[in-house]
Amino acid sequence: MSNEERLKRLLEMKEQARLGGGAKRIEAQHERGKLTARERLDVLLDPGTFEEFDQLMVHRATEFGLDKQHYLGDAVVTGYGKIDGRGVFVFSQDFTVFGGSLSEAMGEKMSKVMDFALKTGAPVIGINDSGGARIQEGVASLGGYGDIFLRNTLASGVIPQISVIMGPCAGGAVYSPALTDFIFMTQNTSQMFITGPDVIKSVTGEDVTHEELGGALAHATRSGVAHFAIDNEEDTLLEVRRLMSFLPLNNMEDPPLVETGDDIHRRSEQLLNIVPDDATKSYDVREVIHEIVDAGDFMEVHAQFAQNIVVGFARMAGRTVGVVANQPMYLAGVLDIDSSRKAARFVRFCDAFNIPILTLVDVPGFLPGVAQEYGGIIVHGAKLVFAYSEATVPKVTVIMRKAYGGAYDAMGSKHLRADMNFSWPQGEIAVVGPEPAVNILYRQRLQQAEDPVAERAKLTAGYAERFANPYVAAARGYVDDVIDPRDTRSRVIRAFEMLRTKTDDTPAKKHSNLPL
Ligand code: HXC
Repeated sequence: MSNEERLKRLLEMKEQARLGGGAKRIEAQHERGKLTARERLDVLLDPGTFEEFDQLMVHRATEFGLDKQHYLGDAVVTGYGKIDGRGVFVFSQDFTVFGGSLSEAMGEKMSKVMDFALKTGAPVIGINDSGGARIQEGVASLGGYGDIFLRNTLASGVIPQISVIMGPCAGGAVYSPALTDFIFMTQNTSQMFITGPDVIKSVTGEDVTHEELGGALAHATRSGVAHFAIDNEEDTLLEVRRLMSFLPLNNMEDPPLVETGDDIHRRSEQLLNIVPDDATKSYDVREVIHEIVDAGDFMEVHAQFAQNIVVGFARMAGRTVGVVANQPMYLAGVLDIDSSRKAARFVRFCDAFNIPILTLVDVPGFLPGVAQEYGGIIVHGAKLVFAYSEATVPKVTVIMRKAYGGAYDAMGSKHLRADMNFSWPQGEIAVVGPEPAVNILYRQRLQQAEDPVAERAKLTAGYAERFANPYVAAARGYVDDVIDPRDTRSRVIRAFEMLRTKTDDTPAKKHSNLPL
């Protein structure tokens, strides 16, 4: 064979590999409103940067007629490329080949990119579109998943791992994403479940559609499994690129510095108006965040789940910060099971990847109730306390209004190693608010009072004057300063600037035992 013929053969093989499961199945994929595995990588990565591995690998199983069907590259496209000029490893499952199901060979391909990612300190972005374990391959497929799960776990906290769900993902195809840091789902064309509607019907008798059971909205609003639910595939992949812009490549690096052009001394008159004087009135804390951060650019994470707390990424003086803020618009901003879990996970991600944490506090307390107690609020609330206590990245906290009870402690208080704590003058920092306090402390006196209404008003005002302010905390140094709300941006930026060289020690241990 001449060199020319050899080259021709190679090109033919590569062309065949590019076709995956064939033109007909690609057409079916497009008809469902889905891109192919390769088209998705074209959107995700900087143009012309993708380098592929194992394009010529094939599955090994021979049973069930598999010896007669071979697809070059099998059901996943793997390799590396760049996002905004920075290297990332990627895999993109190909639903046109055996429904993207995981063979032994495919498991090896995915494990290979994860090994490279760990060796080089680069993130892994996985695009998932898979029916789970390849049924014909039996335990070899389960072994492949086990190998991937192990790598997900070992890479956790070392390199960012991002999962994108772009098809009906079942079984093992959802457990690997669950071990990663962020899950993006595309609305209407992606689902995640460990077993689908048919199995559920036969086991429990419940009738449910694929979308109701595991669609993007179900996971973004109810289970909290998905961090982002986005309209279409292209926008989903562009949002992954946006998220990457906030993140470092690994746990030894700082996030990228981005010139935002926003004046670090910019004052915000608006901050005097957004938060109402009346502590019972609600507002949207995202308006406060937009005023404080660079150019109002805030990438909210888990926006539709546990909306009583807001978490997400922004920049201050061009550097990434993780923002955690109570949201008085939902459930008065109370801490409950879901919001505690949501915020704790976010704080731990930031801590693992050198992202300073800004906490904005306006919290009436933990949510009382039988459902919360039976649901384990004790242990879930403890996760948030644990996460803040454990975190050694720079932590700056601003109490905007209420900071009551255990929630005062949990929301980035000085006692949990927050570095710099500020309060606005309308801060109320106490065990309970004035009305419940008066009810508990003066029950007998109120019962015996000639004019209980007047007596209650007098006692409430007295308690508010004595406790519902930031000055008791400031007198003890629990807040470092009471600041003019309009200066919040510059005060926080200066604090983070000073804290950039901060170090903090934690006793030597194998690992902590987070209250799971
Ligand atoms: C082999 C599979 C497959 C699988 C799909 N296909 N899933 N082949 N193993 N797991 C093939 C189909 O035979 C079909 O081949 C093609 O992929 C497309 O599948 P369709 O069913 O036509 O597509 P659709 O109607 O969109 O349904 C997609 C689906 C469904 C919802 C994913 O295929 C499905 O329910 N698959 C089985 C899911 C499952 O039970 N997986 C095992 C999970 S257990 P042709 O040739 O017609 O194109 C697991 C264990 C690991 O993963 C657990 C670790 C903890």
